[in-house]
Amino acid sequence: MITVKDLNLLAPYMAKGKVLNMEVKEFGRTRNRGAVREVLLEFEDGTKLTGDLNNPNFKMTKLQGLTTIASYFVRGKYGNNQWRGNFSGLLVKDLIEFYNPKFAIDPMVGGGTSHQVFSEMGVNNLCLDLNPRWGEFDALNMELPCSSDFILWHPPYMAFEGSSMPRYSGVEWGKQKHSSDGSHITDPVEFTKWFNKIQANFYASLRKGGRMAIVMGDSRYRGKYYSMFKNMDMYGTLEQVIIKEQHNCISDSIKYSGAKFIPIQHEYLVIIRKDDNYIFPCHIVKSVNVDIRKSEKITWKTLVQATLENMGGKASVGELYEALSKHQKAKTNNNVREKIRQVLGKYSQEFERVADGVFKLRDLSSRVSSNNLVVQAL
Ligand SMILES: C[S@@+](CC[C@H](N)C(=O)[O-])C[C@H]1O[C@@H](n2cnc3c(N)ncnc32)[C@H](O)[C@@H]1O
Repeated sequence: MITVKDLNLLAPYMAKGKVLNMEVKEFGRTRNRGAVREVLLEFEDGTKLTGDLNNPNFKMTKLQGLTTIASYFVRGKYGNNQWRGNFSGLLVKDLIEFYNPKFAIDPMVGGGTSHQVFSEMGVNNLCLDLNPRWGEFDALNMELPCSSDFILWHPPYMAFEGSSMPRYSGVEWGKQKHSSDGSHITDPVEFTKWFNKIQANFYASLRKGGRMAIVMGDSRYRGKYYSMFKNMDMYGTLEQVIIKEQHNCISDSIKYSGAKFIPIQHEYLVIIRKDDNYIFPCHIVKSVNVDIRKSEKITWKTLVQATLENMGGKASVGELYEALSKHQKAKTNNNVREKIRQVLGKYSQEFERVADGVFKLRDLSSRVSSNNLVVQAL
């Protein structure tokens, strides 16, 4: 809560410009005075001031630089505020100040945010996009025309069919969908392929010691979730991951619609470095469905529990034997029936005997907290 006393303390600072955001957080305790009440003021020009309202010598100081959690409530004077899915120019500014590149490329510049920041900061740059306004550069099928020591890449996000995520060609620019435009790919597997091919292309163009900063996010639509960061391959050395708070995203506006989900309010800023001209670390993501019925590594307890649950939660030892004897694990055990009996008896917190030779899975809601569950090494 902001008091009149707080406002009096803040008044001289608030007069310095147009304040677009004010946050007060209370945390921690110091020995001499109570909790810290940190106040943050964000001005229209991107300046951020912070101070402790509980400090008797209250003073606000300028907040600068990057931390692993970044938040840009204001976008500064950069870019096109009509462009869907743009990022704050203040993020670009922080990145340039920190990494200080000699020549920067933004190959998907969108509304032009980074071009404005690069130019204002005197960084030589090349800004491209599939949009003819920026040279009709098709990152999927063309090589970058030159090398650089910094690539700032803000791809479109994976947009599920029917979702209202931003689409670019045919919507933000041009009259038709472009077949290389990632914003129109609605299949997660195809999107990952699109992303990885372009990533490899961009990484290859970097000079040794150069970096690629990728801004990316997760998507959700009707119960389906796709994480760009989790699904991407990675070529090069992972130098830094920054979680960036996303303000005013669509999920904010549907937070109260009654649907039960946690709104996505973050993006990732991933920094990858090229350390060698010839050799690079490569993390390849492979997605497979594992069938535990074909696994020998699975434990008997898990197998019995999963099979019982799959049979409706109640079965006789004979029925379980019938089902489990076809599983891979049973092929290397000479006494499967006895093993099933042993597991059902041993884990009495999991399995309940309801009649002679008949067991059911215990109802989770009837389970009480306990530190005495049977645990055993794998
Ligand atoms: C998320 S926006 C970039 C927004 C930008 N950072 C800004 O602040 O305005 C993604 C851009 O990628 C472009 N794009 C999509 N597919 C592309 C491709 N294959 N090659 C080059 N650009 C592409 C779109 O036209 C769009 O402008």
